[in-house]
Amino acid sequence: MSEEPTRRLFFALWPEDGLRGPLHAMGEKIARRAGGRVVAAEKLHATLVFLGNMPESSMACIREAAAGVHAEAFELSLDRTGYWPRPRVSWAGCAEMPPALPGLVRDLSTALRPCGYRPERRPFHVHVTLTRKTRHHKGEESMRPLPWPVADFCLVESVSEDGGVSYLVLDRWPLKGPARD
Ligand code: 2AM
Repeated sequence: MSEEPTRRLFFALWPEDGLRGPLHAMGEKIARRAGGRVVAAEKLHATLVFLGNMPESSMACIREAAAGVHAEAFELSLDRTGYWPRPRVSWAGCAEMPPALPGLVRDLSTALRPCGYRPERRPFHVHVTLTRKTRHHKGEESMRPLPWPVADFCLVESVSEDGGVSYLVLDRWPLKGPARD
């Protein structure tokens, strides 16, 4: 009996190219001080919901759930860097999240329940991982804010390849409102 194939999936905010350079440069700066592997510019993102390995047959349910989410567009201000000792990553994030963002994560998480997703218990902290396997780094530091107008969210597949992973954006759904105009 063959097992059903699975795909490793997550929902994310996917930055425009213009934001990737400054974020990558920040990762390089942190790695110079505290070591670790800098996340490649083209892989930088902010995870909304991590689904993990999902059966191929749940793809239609997942897409339908995403299409049913009607959230407002918003602007993030990336104005903080920080470090989490577990799993030893440094990140860029926000001092204050626009309320529409946790709303989007909550609505998406709820909509994904019928597809077999169990919502996270821990609170959502938006972050873009900049470096991995980094030695202890300072606590949170403010940085010159990088504005990030968010007009859509994406379904992404994490594909294993020699020595790492690549991320494939499978689909995008627009948010409602001004950041899109
Ligand atoms: P991270 O950026 O904090 O490492 C793809 O693996 C994305 O899903 C990464 O951005 C990762 O977050 C996030 N993610 C969240 N929970 C995860 C988990 N349990 N295992 C792997 N990745 C997870």
